Amino acid sequence: MKMCHFVPLLILSFLVSISSAEFSGKVGVNYGQLGNNLRSPSKSVELIKSLKAKRVKIYDANPDILKSLKNTNLQVSIMLPNELISNISTNQTLSDLWIRSKVLPFYPDTKIRYLLVGNEILSSYSNTQTWYNLVPAMIKIKHSLKALGIHKVKVGTSSAMDVLESSFPPSNGTFRVDISGRVIKPMLQFLNRTKSFFFLDVYPYFPWSTDPVNIKLDYALSESKNFTYTDPGSGLTYTNLFDQMVDAVIFAMKRLGYPDVRIWIAETGWPNDGDFDQIGCNIYNAATYNRNIVKKLTSVPPIGTPARPGRVVPSFIFSLYNENQKPGPGTERHFGLLYPNGSRVYEIDLSGETSMWEYKKRLPKPTNNEPYKGKIWCFVAKGANRSEVGSALSYACSQGNKTCDPIQPGGKCYKPDSVIWHASYAFSSYWAQFKKVGGTCYFNGLATQTIKDPSK
Ligand SMILES: *[C@@H]1O[C@H](CO)[C@@H](O)[C@H](O)[C@H]1NC(C)=O
Ligand SMILES: *[C@@H]1O[C@H](CO)[C@@H](O)[C@H](O)[C@H]1NC(C)=O
Ligand SMILES: *[C@@H]1O[C@H](CO)[C@@H](O)[C@H](O)[C@H]1NC(C)=O
Ligand SMILES: *[C@@H]1O[C@H](CO)[C@@H](O)[C@H](O)[C@H]1NC(C)=O
Ligand SMILES: *[C@@H]1O[C@H](CO)[C@@H](O)[C@H](O)[C@H]1NC(C)=O
Ligand SMILES: *[C@@H]1O[C@H](CO)[C@@H](O)[C@H](O)[C@H]1NC(C)=O
Ligand SMILES: *[C@@H]1O[C@H](CO)[C@@H](O)[C@H](O)[C@H]1NC(C)=O
Ligand SMILES: *[C@@H]1O[C@H](CO)[C@@H](O)[C@H](O)[C@H]1NC(C)=O
Repeated sequence: MKMCHFVPLLILSFLVSISSAEFSGKVGVNYGQLGNNLRSPSKSVELIKSLKAKRVKIYDANPDILKSLKNTNLQVSIMLPNELISNISTNQTLSDLWIRSKVLPFYPDTKIRYLLVGNEILSSYSNTQTWYNLVPAMIKIKHSLKALGIHKVKVGTSSAMDVLESSFPPSNGTFRVDISGRVIKPMLQFLNRTKSFFFLDVYPYFPWSTDPVNIKLDYALSESKNFTYTDPGSGLTYTNLFDQMVDAVIFAMKRLGYPDVRIWIAETGWPNDGDFDQIGCNIYNAATYNRNIVKKLTSVPPIGTPARPGRVVPSFIFSLYNENQKPGPGTERHFGLLYPNGSRVYEIDLSGETSMWEYKKRLPKPTNNEPYKGKIWCFVAKGANRSEVGSALSYACSQGNKTCDPIQPGGKCYKPDSVIWHASYAFSSYWAQFKKVGGTCYFNGLATQTIKDPSK
């Protein structure tokens, strides 16, 4: 009899797949809404307060949320969606209309203080023309705010670390050549002139998880007591990866002639869970990192970073909830301080007033700080919608080489003839081929990783 074997992904060793008072150290939280099971805006605002966050950042200008934030003390950061950047960059009327319809109905009762034009658009290569429209759009939006008498709202945009082409050593920090002159320089000029901030997303998790051998976990978690790194270019000494990453951007700005633009940490955090092939994503590390970073950022007097000692670094932790509809690897859906039902993943106090030893509950022991070794399959998730699974099956089979041959009639894995069985075969086979180029076992939430051989 012919045997059916599901194609596993075999991991032998770690895969290096991708190689002042106004702005005191208050920590806020990012309130992302990419989940179909999250608490209501008004309940969410209560939860944000209970975390003792002083600020909240949202990824749009959702009127229900802005309404729920009315007459609270929370400072609010809103966002202009990426899709609107290009049109707004050439049309002042459209910019005025957006501010009139999105900001004016809530301002000033809702303390809108920051408006980010787009989210990490310089990391997206799908429409690079938008890059060059970014600063013109920021200028139009600032103009609209001024024209409407709204002077308290700073305009910026959020950037990921990949705006740098070099970040190590920090003193070598340099912006990517494709954006440096045409986008970053005019942006820094705008931010400097309007006394706004360079909004930066900083995740020590990512560089650590791609190189856990050379980067010490404690150093990435801002937990190291005995390891330091001295930058040979600047002579500055680092005790954690977060500072190193932030300073790389500071040195890059300096290189372009803007040494004084302030940094705002638009996102930072650590995943509390993830997939089997991901390392270091657990509650222990997430709690440790976030507690350490909150302590540092709320410290009085401010600590700053080695390149800017004693300076306040305002920030937003990512994220309020675990968001089940974020695409990509499993870690993406597990950055929450809260589960979707609002209960805490671990104790955390964003005011920084709770000292480390006051956190009462013992954290669960970390389980995956070493890379997983062994076989993993990609299986249809429990409760997945059958008709959607059918479409995903067709898609997976249309990709790669002979991806679905064994589940054709007469093939080795044809029986049992069910959509779930066939799709599980197809997902595993697809993933085994595409993992190396960034393919994931997700299929819009229809698939999940398993270490139990499904063909058994
Ligand atoms: C941008 O403007 C064009 C031309 O007016 C319009 O067709 C398009 O729908 C607009 N895009 C968005 C995202 O509003
Ligand atoms: C600018 O936007 C407004 C409002 O959407 C629209 O009526 C107008 O046609 C646009 N102008 C141009 C030149 O596209
Ligand atoms: C500094 O950055 C450049 C690229 O901008 C790179 O070629 C060089 O290797 C870096 N220097 C060090 C010491 O890493
Ligand atoms: C940045 O702003 C400061 C203060 O307004 C100003 O003195 C400085 O010249 C500006 N830098 C550049 C490069 O424009
Ligand atoms: C630092 O301390 C840790 C834990 O106590 C230990 O495992 C490690 O070897 C030490 N590293 C250095 C460079 O002393
Ligand atoms: C909320 O969800 C978490 C994770 O699924 C679960 O452990 C917890 O019991 C839930 N809490 C309540 C009150 O339902
Ligand atoms: C399954 O998905 C289809 C297509 O998206 C949708 O029309 C249908 O209502 C869903 N069924 C269930 C039970 O959710
Ligand atoms: C499919 O096979 C071709 C030719 O052997 C190869 O170049 C290509 O990379 C394969 N595609 C995948 C997804 O493995």
